[in-house]
Amino acid sequence: MPSSQPQPVAPSVRRQSAPHVAIAGATGAVGEEFLRVLAQRHFPIGKLTLLASARSAGKTLAFNGDDYTCEELTEDSFKDVDLALFSAGGSISKKFGPVAVDAGAVVVDNSSAFRMTDGVPLVVPEVNPEAITDANIGLGSDNVAGIIANPNCSTIIMLMAVTPLHRAVAVKRMVVSTYQAASGAGAAAMRELEQQTREALSEPGAVGEVKTQAIFPFQYAFNLFSHNSPMQPNGYNQEELKMVHETHKIWAQNENEKTAITATCIRVPVMRAHAESINLTFAHPLPEDEARRLLEQAPGVSLIDDRANNRFPMPLDATHRDDCYVGRIRRDLSQPGETGLDLFVCGDQVRKGAALNAVQIAELLLR
Ligand code: A2P
Repeated sequence: MPSSQPQPVAPSVRRQSAPHVAIAGATGAVGEEFLRVLAQRHFPIGKLTLLASARSAGKTLAFNGDDYTCEELTEDSFKDVDLALFSAGGSISKKFGPVAVDAGAVVVDNSSAFRMTDGVPLVVPEVNPEAITDANIGLGSDNVAGIIANPNCSTIIMLMAVTPLHRAVAVKRMVVSTYQAASGAGAAAMRELEQQTREALSEPGAVGEVKTQAIFPFQYAFNLFSHNSPMQPNGYNQEELKMVHETHKIWAQNENEKTAITATCIRVPVMRAHAESINLTFAHPLPEDEARRLLEQAPGVSLIDDRANNRFPMPLDATHRDDCYVGRIRRDLSQPGETGLDLFVCGDQVRKGAALNAVQIAELLLR
């Protein structure tokens, strides 16, 4: 892992008009969502460059009613680019992120390549927008180029629900279990889930075996399994450790104040919204009604918490939506007084977990 933010050659003249935006990984699940979110939020774009692998060179993608032709991502792709949104995997970000910065671009990187790198802000706009200002990275004439990292999708969704509470009363310990959608593993994984579901249902009267098994090592349709990120010697997988370490960085916690966090990450056969069960221990009491009030007021959070009708957040509630949906807000009866709380949250992994969060970061850069 690189030890510090790549040092840009500070551009002598920064952009005066709408930025030239490049998307690296434009043909992927997140790349295509970038295009939708940029259009929906009327992000100012002077010029748009779509980049993908050589396989996709020449392919056209629609944006705001026009067709754009994808180019192969190369070292020369970032000439005159002001803003580069990356979602083509960690190795591509590692190789081409610094190239884009050297060319004078601000990079918003959706991969894990630079998240824990010193000097690289790791940002959820509703949680720690100040990290960007502190680094002075931006598209204004007084700002510098650099990399800003988009956190892991499960971390973003968790922190959207927990940060409003943590700001009121410090969270001492957090136990999270995730139910993660196919989209986190990319467009090919979503196609595999769809194909496997068709194959499994092709025999009438029984859930049969599946033939297609290219992305995940196990049957995904009608099944679930431990997250497919690399397993570590300590028994945690990488996804789980990302949730721990990224939270400490985003909350800017020093060694003495770090929240104790443990995570179990599971892949479930849902297409594109993650769910998370979260158990919290607070430093001081936080009554359930106060927690509900804080979450009702939190930007980017909506409540679905209808006990009478047993109606709580589901992945389909969050699918293609911007907000994270929180419910099952209840006092944890196993903890003393009002110091423990349980929550359930759902958020669209492709949107708030990736593309929307990155575009919100880009909006902060325009200021
Ligand atoms: P391509 O479609 O040409 O393979 P996802 O996360 O949905 O799997 O998408 C990954 C994105 O990263 C796609 O746009 C993919 O382009 C792109 N990508 C993969 N490998 C490369 C590469 N070597 N150079 C540039 N883009 C790449």
